[in-house]
Amino acid sequence: MNNRVKTEVPAEVMQEQEKYTQLARMRIAEIYYGRIPKYHVHSYGCQLNVSDGEKLKGQLEAMGYQQTQSVEDADFVIYNTCAVRENAEDRALGNLGALKNQKRRRPSMLIAICGCMTQQQHIADKIKKSFPFVDIVFGTHSMYRLPEMVWSRLNGGARVFDTSADDKDIVEGLPVSRDSDFKAWLPVMYGCDNFCSYCIVPYVRGRERSRRPEEVVAEARKIVESGYKEIMLLGQNVNSYGVGLEEKINFSELLRRIDAIEGDYRIRFMTSHPKDCTHELIDTIADSKHICHHIHLPVQCGSDRILKLMNRKYDVAKYLELISYARERMPDVTLTSDIIVGFPGETYEDFLQTLELLKTVRFNALYTFIYSKREGTVAAKMEDPVPYEDKSRWFRELLAVQEEIADSYYKSMVGKRVRVLPEELGKNEGTITGRDDGNIIVNIKAPESMIGSFVEVDVDTAYNWAVGGTIAAE
Ligand code: 5AD
Ligand code: SF4
Repeated sequence: MNNRVKTEVPAEVMQEQEKYTQLARMRIAEIYYGRIPKYHVHSYGCQLNVSDGEKLKGQLEAMGYQQTQSVEDADFVIYNTCAVRENAEDRALGNLGALKNQKRRRPSMLIAICGCMTQQQHIADKIKKSFPFVDIVFGTHSMYRLPEMVWSRLNGGARVFDTSADDKDIVEGLPVSRDSDFKAWLPVMYGCDNFCSYCIVPYVRGRERSRRPEEVVAEARKIVESGYKEIMLLGQNVNSYGVGLEEKINFSELLRRIDAIEGDYRIRFMTSHPKDCTHELIDTIADSKHICHHIHLPVQCGSDRILKLMNRKYDVAKYLELISYARERMPDVTLTSDIIVGFPGETYEDFLQTLELLKTVRFNALYTFIYSKREGTVAAKMEDPVPYEDKSRWFRELLAVQEEIADSYYKSMVGKRVRVLPEELGKNEGTITGRDDGNIIVNIKAPESMIGSFVEVDVDTAYNWAVGGTIAAE
């Protein structure tokens, strides 16, 4: 099926970018003589984008910039955008527009916009025309050329537009500046070949390509050796990992190789497509030492008719079979999913089948979306007669059903002991918050010093969308 030659960006090309990094570094030192210039990178959307953002940060730090959380203080602002739904696009453009005055006050600052959104020609054109204060616009396939783009612009070059559609390459060896020192993203594959009819991702992220297993395993080993407690493997469709690689390997085998790395850490992954999810994958999770018993398996909807129109290539029966096998192998497994409400042509009867499915599976948590029309996709051309108000009403109905399901699950957790990786301070004083191995949010009465290492927690309270507890005595 997949006979395209996939290559990594050649070493000489990466070396050239390193040369530009040094040139940009010298130029930046000249321009900001006597102080360290600051950057602000904001990534919208999914974890893959956030992981890309960490590579942008790594490159900027190599050029001599230092991170700031404040946009106002930044000498260089990059918005790393998402195109999956319209509201994410609107937010990014709104924030970009707000930079106009800052740039007027401080003309030496640089502004860049990149990511999935700019990979769409009509958006790149719009930015070119309506946002003349933006210095650099680049797409998902050009990220590794950031040093060259910065160097060129800082040397008085024209505004830079680099949104090439060249999606054949994998980039290895970019510097990464990770946001966390206990949770690490690890992309295993890029792109998507599924062309679900509503989704823009295959158009902006290009064709599927997998990183070589030795690269992935070596990075995982480095992450564990550096003391990280959680590795999140990322891909738009991790279950088709390996297609097109020289070595014959699938995602389950990759998981087994990573799981074999010794250490006190846990593995998560996303996203799995149900059409490629296998019993082998479920067995691999069940038999592993480090992989969390949690599967995020987006079903999108509970009507076979709509699943067909969505081009999802599975039906409800196949989905339910996977769920029951997962539960048979791992009685403690937690399940989460994505749901789209109001796909073109979806009727209330179709929607009721989604509610039925939710009641049958009883997901632990859901990510729910109202359908958003994406220009250029197959669904964008479909008749969409249901008014937005009706879709919103269905959406609220769905949330109410799910809330009840989640509520009863949280109540059933009271009295249990769970392992949690606390990530940040909680809302209430004296609390910290994180996720258990099943990806459930747990608020803990414990000091800040416990953030970043595993703790055993006795659950004593059920909230909406989370549970609470205290550190276990022994
Ligand atoms: N409209 C609404 N939701 C979408 N998703 C993807 N494309 C769209 C769209 N056009 C949702 C799907 C996917 C998740 C990442 O985003 O549920 O699984
Ligand atoms: Fe989009 Fe479907 Fe690919 Fe997910 S699998 S990124 S929903 S096309």
